[in-house]
Amino acid sequence: MYTEKIIKSEIYKIKNDIRLDFFLKKIIYGKNGYYYSKKPIGRKNDFITAPEISQIFGEIIGLYLFYFWKTKINNKFNLIELGPGNGTLFLDIINSTSKYPAFLSDAKIKLIEINKELKKIQKKNLNKNLLLKIKWSKKINFGSSFPTVIYSNEFFDCFPIRQFLFKDAWYEKYVSLNREENRLFFKNRIVKENKLLNILEKYKDNRVYEISAERNKYFNKLCKFINKNGGIIFTVDYGYLNKINNFTLQGIQNHKFSSVLENLGEKDISSHVNFTDLVNIAKNNKLKIEEFCTQREFLIKYGILERKKTLSKLNNQKSLNQEIERLIGKKNMGNLFKVLVVSNL
Ligand SMILES: C[S@@+](CC[C@H](N)C(=O)[O-])C[C@H]1O[C@@H](n2cnc3c(N)ncnc32)[C@H](O)[C@@H]1O
Repeated sequence: MYTEKIIKSEIYKIKNDIRLDFFLKKIIYGKNGYYYSKKPIGRKNDFITAPEISQIFGEIIGLYLFYFWKTKINNKFNLIELGPGNGTLFLDIINSTSKYPAFLSDAKIKLIEINKELKKIQKKNLNKNLLLKIKWSKKINFGSSFPTVIYSNEFFDCFPIRQFLFKDAWYEKYVSLNREENRLFFKNRIVKENKLLNILEKYKDNRVYEISAERNKYFNKLCKFINKNGGIIFTVDYGYLNKINNFTLQGIQNHKFSSVLENLGEKDISSHVNFTDLVNIAKNNKLKIEEFCTQREFLIKYGILERKKTLSKLNNQKSLNQEIERLIGKKNMGNLFKVLVVSNL
């Protein structure tokens, strides 16, 4: 409610409307914004993520990262997770690599987290591993010269986006305020800037286009860092290649889709990641594309079905089948989620 008041008073006092990405930045990252202080992840909260569905997700990622480190680095290195949520993915990485203790003992571990409530949860969940020295930070220290392994799940979907719609001309989405009803609404403003119109030209047939300059800038910084230090970026997120036919911005509260313009700061707001942009940024930074495929393809290639057989001797068969289906089912996360791995070693 606090975030809603701030936004409304800002539009009311200063401007008629606010560009979508600036609006999103305030409701996601502003003081009292969703990622500033809410506890979003889990069955009792707003949404559930792959590491929370099954331990196998994090085990496979852990072994993949271990193998990369062993064959290409095998020395002291930075191990960085972006947006660790409840810390579950990292816990599964710790468990799956415990047979190879040199991996974590050589790691300078850094968890990048802006949410102070999630940081508390991560500390509590990871405290059991007292031998590990873990540091937290809101930002990466790009000054380090060690080779670096960076990984994330559902991190890049959080970044603010701009949205464009083609009708008789190109329009950009803004958020405005109906003063009489004290209600926010989307408003389209015609795009006049030539540089932007040139970019939009090739999306005319699709009629919609989204871009996240902040996400691309962040990823570009990571790529430059890896190019300089050596290492790998491993990222999983829901997303698409190049073009979309519908807008992808979504609000999720209590596991249900919910309007982006209501209960500001109280729900998760995210959008699908344009993986073509990320691939191009990696290539521009001379990084190799190690993997670029669906989550389904990645998890099958790296042994989810074999691991399922082993676990089925210990676990309830029905719930194990359901978990695996959620991770790799074509109508579940399997095709929507993509895995992108880039490196320079
Ligand atoms: C959708 S959650 C995913 C959490 C976890 N990776 C998982 O898979 O369960 C996004 C995470 O990224 C964090 N986050 C979002 N934007 C961030 C940013 N710009 N810098 C640091 N952390 C961020 C959130 O606080 C949260 O921990």
